[in-house]
Amino acid sequence: MSIFDVAVWNNGVVRMLDQRLLPQEESYLEFASASEVAEAIRDMVVRGAPAIGCAAAFGVAVEAFRLARDGIPVSWSLAMAPGMERLRLARPTAVNLVWALERMRPLLEGEPALVPERLLAEAEQIRQEDIASCRVMGRLGAAILPRPQGRPLAIMTHCNAGALATAGYGTALGVIRAAVELYKDVVVFATETRPYLQGARLTAWELLRDGIDVTLMTDSMAGHAMSRGLIDVVVVGADRVAANGDAANKIGTYVHAVLARRHAIPFMVACPLSTIDRNAVSGAQIPIEERAPEEVTHCLGHRSAALGVKVFNPAFDVTPAELVSALITEQGVVHAPNTEKIRGLFGC
Ligand code: MRU
Repeated sequence: MSIFDVAVWNNGVVRMLDQRLLPQEESYLEFASASEVAEAIRDMVVRGAPAIGCAAAFGVAVEAFRLARDGIPVSWSLAMAPGMERLRLARPTAVNLVWALERMRPLLEGEPALVPERLLAEAEQIRQEDIASCRVMGRLGAAILPRPQGRPLAIMTHCNAGALATAGYGTALGVIRAAVELYKDVVVFATETRPYLQGARLTAWELLRDGIDVTLMTDSMAGHAMSRGLIDVVVVGADRVAANGDAANKIGTYVHAVLARRHAIPFMVACPLSTIDRNAVSGAQIPIEERAPEEVTHCLGHRSAALGVKVFNPAFDVTPAELVSALITEQGVVHAPNTEKIRGLFGC
């Protein structure tokens, strides 16, 4: 499997693959403060919910090492507050960001001299756990995929929920990788994912590198592909899942879920527990990021829309739980998710 440094610690700085340049260029950037990491998250150097969480955790660690160079602060909580706030505000929808910050926060207490090293150890732990969770989700998800007889299993995915969007292996693409390892005869349909083109630029690149059979199509071709029997199952990731199973993911996911239901095709969401926001009762409470109009008026840097047109550019939409056939997590698969079943995943 391809290995990328999506967000890792490297000799006192945070190293990240610059995803904005893919697939043309594979180049790495280094970040030395929480502000720089927050900027990298906002600018999409790193993206994808679990990857954003990992980056934020390393952002906290690098900030502590930076501050410690001027002496150990009297109060780590006070000293770290501005940097952590900048990280928190970097992007609003993926709950993994806040989840990671809240997991790091208790480590600001305790023996002050040890705080930077303890934060770094926790960030590395978050990274390792994410890879392990993806592996488990892959195995569990692959086990519930349909198995067509006499032809390859065709999986459609939207956006990029792969190794590039996590610490490694991927959530939806983890399920696909595990299916390829198990069943071999698997083909993938990746949607382009307008307007930011995560499917065309990232998913296609990532799967091709692994030698996985991938076919690219524009988002609006999904209905036609389903109606012609080309798709057996849809598997996507999520940026935030509400307590009732409503799932926010990349804009366009909801359309695919409606289409899948129309064609009686299973629609599965793979995400770690860190993506489930138990404070959001339903999807209506999930904040949806609105991004720059240029993402819609321009295509790869070239204007494609009439000058002066108004733009609507939400980066995510919410798929109601009733359209989700299965929620695949590292704690198990929940079929037809609802509040009670999701509570069960957390043991309370
Ligand atoms: O705007 P992005 O590229 O950060 O959006 C990413 C997605 O919507 C992914 O599908 C989601 O984060 C799942 S990543 C495993």
